[in-house]
Amino acid sequence: MTTFSEQESEKLPKHVAIIMDGNGRWARSRGKPRIFGHRNGVKNVRSVVNAAREFNVPYITLYAFSTENQNRPEDEKSGLMRLLEEFLRRELASMLKDGIRLRAIGDLSGLPQFAQKIVEESIEKTKHNNSWNLTLALNYGSRQEVLNGIHSFAKNILTTGEIPENLDWRTFSNHLETKDLPDPDLIIRTSGEFRLSNFLLLQAAYAEIFVSPLHWPDFNREAFIEALKNYIGRERRFGQTSDQLSHSSPTLISNKKL
Ligand code: IPE
Ligand code: IPE
Ligand code: MG
Repeated sequence: MTTFSEQESEKLPKHVAIIMDGNGRWARSRGKPRIFGHRNGVKNVRSVVNAAREFNVPYITLYAFSTENQNRPEDEKSGLMRLLEEFLRRELASMLKDGIRLRAIGDLSGLPQFAQKIVEESIEKTKHNNSWNLTLALNYGSRQEVLNGIHSFAKNILTTGEIPENLDWRTFSNHLETKDLPDPDLIIRTSGEFRLSNFLLLQAAYAEIFVSPLHWPDFNREAFIEALKNYIGRERRFGQTSDQLSHSSPTLISNKKL
């Protein structure tokens, strides 16, 4: 069964970023503790990553833990970190087999030592993979990322003594943690919430946003396909008019070039 025609496949996103929300509510509706929801949420990552590979979406970024999530109860945070460790131990072999390169964005030094270690080891072990790209946002917050970027940019000026005459987005975005990733084309948020919660605020300037009513543990391959279908039906204008797009030239502004 082909899900997408050749023409549709060309319009599929290169980078899908997902705000995996609703684990707690999913668990509560079953009378279970929140960590039960997180455990089932982690199980789901595999099927979404597989679907991304199936449909040739080379970049997937998952919001797993925000800077604000540091304010959650200690037992929930440590449970999440154990799940992260289990996930990486379990998935490393298939990431190596399938050519998936793992990256992380966020301040890893704010994670417990054991979690930091396994994340760094997994990044190191998969660094030569180049078929697929899985990025985990861990202790990530967009505002902190931008502040760090400004700091790094200012330091550069002090070291080189050179202030770029025309500061453009491309130059500055090289100081962000996402410098090796294209901008997200599609941001999916599960659990029916219409907000970004400090996720990729600048990179999402022209991202299409899809909100699924499903809680993350229920967000399966079919739900991912539905989001892709919805995305390819949209017209991305990047500030231009529909008429301009229908007479588009190869110089059309793309998401990456903004
Ligand atoms: C998302 O599910 C996982 C993390 C934020 C770590 P939540 O834990 O936010 O679940 P809800 O939103 O409380 O249902
Ligand atoms: C966003 O979900 C963060 C992650 C999915 C990791 P939250 O559940 O933390 O977001 P808010 O607090 O509802 O905005
Ligand atoms: Mg939530």
